[in-house]
Amino acid sequence: QAVQVPRGPLLGRHVIVTSGPTHEPIDPVRYIANRSSGAQGTAIATALRDLGARVSFVTGPASIAPPEGVDVIRVETAREMREAVSEALPADAAVMAAAVADWRVTNAGARKIKKDGSGKPPALEMTENPDILAWVSGLHKRRPALVVGFAAETHEVIENATAKRQRKGCDWIVANDVSPATGIMGGTENAVTLIRDGGAEEWPRMGKDAVARRLAKEIAEALT
Ligand code: CTP
Ligand code: CA
Repeated sequence: QAVQVPRGPLLGRHVIVTSGPTHEPIDPVRYIANRSSGAQGTAIATALRDLGARVSFVTGPASIAPPEGVDVIRVETAREMREAVSEALPADAAVMAAAVADWRVTNAGARKIKKDGSGKPPALEMTENPDILAWVSGLHKRRPALVVGFAAETHEVIENATAKRQRKGCDWIVANDVSPATGIMGGTENAVTLIRDGGAEEWPRMGKDAVARRLAKEIAEALT
């Protein structure tokens, strides 16, 4: 039987990839979440692995299976995701592809909320979740050499994504238009623009696997 000898331009490199949604509990049976299949993050982890990287794949509850041959760390909430990323450091690069829920419920109950018969919905108190991408980008000694974020936008995509890159302090941002008319959300294709110091590069619409392979190649080039 043939033995797989690991090789590739990312051999000896460690990359953290976040993927999927996070679930923020309201009570034991209900949660708040963003829509995310985890497909793009899973494809990125696979492509990095194929270039020889050791991949820590920090994933929320996604509908598709994680790749083989990566370290899978399963989390539920944004706070757990940040903790898992912290424990996976140090890394040469971090790619934050997760669709993290922006808010969590502060008064989440240990017991199921019951309808009380009045017809009035329960009052949910919410607070903002930690921004994992901004936090990683702002690290000093432990900051990965390359931090890549995503920006899923429905309007003024490039403007919003460029501002997001500035605000969060990441090196690259992968912008995509997720407005319903594009059919990208939940689909197998993606149309992205890679924004970095050199400017914005619009990639043609292609499969999420192809986007992942191209991004992994760019990451390998940046790290060598
Ligand atoms: N992100 C993160 N932690 C959060 C929110 C977002 O790490 N709490 C990351 C995402 O994984 C993505 C990037 O930040 O790489 C941008 O996420 P996005 O939701 O587009 O940006 P927000 O800053 O949350 O802005 P908004 O949702 O208001 O557009
Ligand atoms: Ca958000």
